[in-house]
Amino acid sequence: MSAGPANVKPLFSAEEIATRVATLASEIAASEPKRLLAIIVLKGGFMFAADLVRELALNNVRLEIEFISLSSYGTRQRTSGEVRVVRDIEVEVAGRDVLIIDDVLDSGLTLKFARDLMLTRGARRAAIAVMVNKPAGRRAQIEADYVGFTCPDYFVVGYGMDAAHAWRELPFVGVFESTPGGAG
Ligand code: IMP
Ligand code: MG
Repeated sequence: MSAGPANVKPLFSAEEIATRVATLASEIAASEPKRLLAIIVLKGGFMFAADLVRELALNNVRLEIEFISLSSYGTRQRTSGEVRVVRDIEVEVAGRDVLIIDDVLDSGLTLKFARDLMLTRGARRAAIAVMVNKPAGRRAQIEADYVGFTCPDYFVVGYGMDAAHAWRELPFVGVFESTPGGAG
């Protein structure tokens, strides 16, 4: 793996991620989704979703893509529990199989909100795919159906995930180590 920024310690390489995403896509394909709607949670889910939908295409899974932007009140790295829709999807989900794609499952408050919302709207199924699962942070009763990697309660960046808006563009997942006394 190419060396990343000094304060980002590589955790999952681009190669490991690609292998994992291909496996997840074949698992999703095996579930034979009907009228699949992939709902990408912005912003963090964009990179994982871009790779996952291409792998799904290679598995002959047809789908539509929508985006949702959710926001939770709270501090920079911890969510308060209150989630709201900032930008909604633009299609009906009633009777459809939905796949919600996001970067991290941490407290679970965001994805529990998203899944409940789609089920309330009449989705036939609402599955969740995340790149990183951090079970230690869980506050809501929810698990993802498809998980890239499980890790301890690190603050991870890269592959869509940010620390104060930085590092989303990294092709790998790393642990962000803030410099003592420094910004970010
Ligand atoms: P939740 O706590 O499961 O609701 O996660 C809310 C959001 O916090 C996730 O979708 C991520 O955008 C963000 N988040 C949680 N943990 C991390 C992390 O380690 N790195 C970057 N973003 C994170
Ligand atoms: Mg997010």
